[in-house]
Amino acid sequence: MSHPLEQLRDEALREIESATDQQALETTRVKYLGRSGSISSWGEQMKALAKEEKPVIGKLLNEVRNAVTAAIETRNAQFRLQKESGALAKIDISLPGTPHDIGSLHPLHQMHEHAIQIFRRMGFALAEGPDVETEWYCFDALNTPPDHPVRNEQDTFYLSDGRLLRTHTSTVQIRAMESVSPPLRVIAPGAAYRRDEIDATHSAQFHQIEGLYVDENVSVADLKGELEFFLRELFGSETEVQFRPHYFPFTEPSLEVYVRSKALKRGEQWIEVAGCGMVHPAVFEAVNKARGDKAYDPEKWNGYAFGLGMDRLAMILFGIPDIRLFAQNDLRFLRQFA
Ligand code: PHE
Repeated sequence: MSHPLEQLRDEALREIESATDQQALETTRVKYLGRSGSISSWGEQMKALAKEEKPVIGKLLNEVRNAVTAAIETRNAQFRLQKESGALAKIDISLPGTPHDIGSLHPLHQMHEHAIQIFRRMGFALAEGPDVETEWYCFDALNTPPDHPVRNEQDTFYLSDGRLLRTHTSTVQIRAMESVSPPLRVIAPGAAYRRDEIDATHSAQFHQIEGLYVDENVSVADLKGELEFFLRELFGSETEVQFRPHYFPFTEPSLEVYVRSKALKRGEQWIEVAGCGMVHPAVFEAVNKARGDKAYDPEKWNGYAFGLGMDRLAMILFGIPDIRLFAQNDLRFLRQFA
């Protein structure tokens, strides 16, 4: 004659086997293994047993509990599998899937990475500022008076709260100097915006890398030498670089930078790639005013700044004839640079 616990076990196993769904199985589990289930209550009854019986029955109780628990788990797994295969049966796994297109880096992005890598080797750190700016950072601090044409509504995108889309990345010159004391050597890549007649070489959004170097005894020779080095790293050692006098309110003297190289698509032509110059003392004074100190004393510090037109550089390097192609998202265009 088997022990009542063994009978309980066999009874439970039969019920588990014949359970038709998960709900019935749960009812069976509660009936036997729940807090006051018939198997669980044996734990209480153990206390009344004789001392020598306890380990024997205790062991049996464990075995029974484990056997029933395992059977419930197995049956539960069967139910789950049934459900899943029911759902899967409706899917035709022999149908081809939806392929995902693998993208590639945008030519402008590639251009930026390449340029940043060269500047890093030259010791420049990265700085940044927001695209939506105040007039202070975009104009006032850059010695650009209220009557200057770039501040005209025809030339700049203003927001209704008086802020604007920055017209150049020179804003970051001011932001960098406000937060870091000299000496300073930073580049700031980013987008800039101008109202413009859009054509093959003009876009309302374009990209620049701003550069700023402030130290003692910085000269135009440093500016020329370093920009020449950069441009030759980028376009090849046979690249010719030319500096022409220009005007910017925030540099004095100011220059425009042109390159020409037989290795490039537009070989014989001089192409303008950057504006640059020596930081105007008025810019240092504006920064001092904002900082509330004399950290950028124009008697002690000087520096150079430049703004490289990245769209132009990418067009030259990749032989792209039309700036609008950068923003049209045409895969036939983009795939050529994958
Ligand atoms: N901010 C100028 C522009 O966008 C370029 C520039 C940068 C010129 C720094 C001088 C110094 O045209």
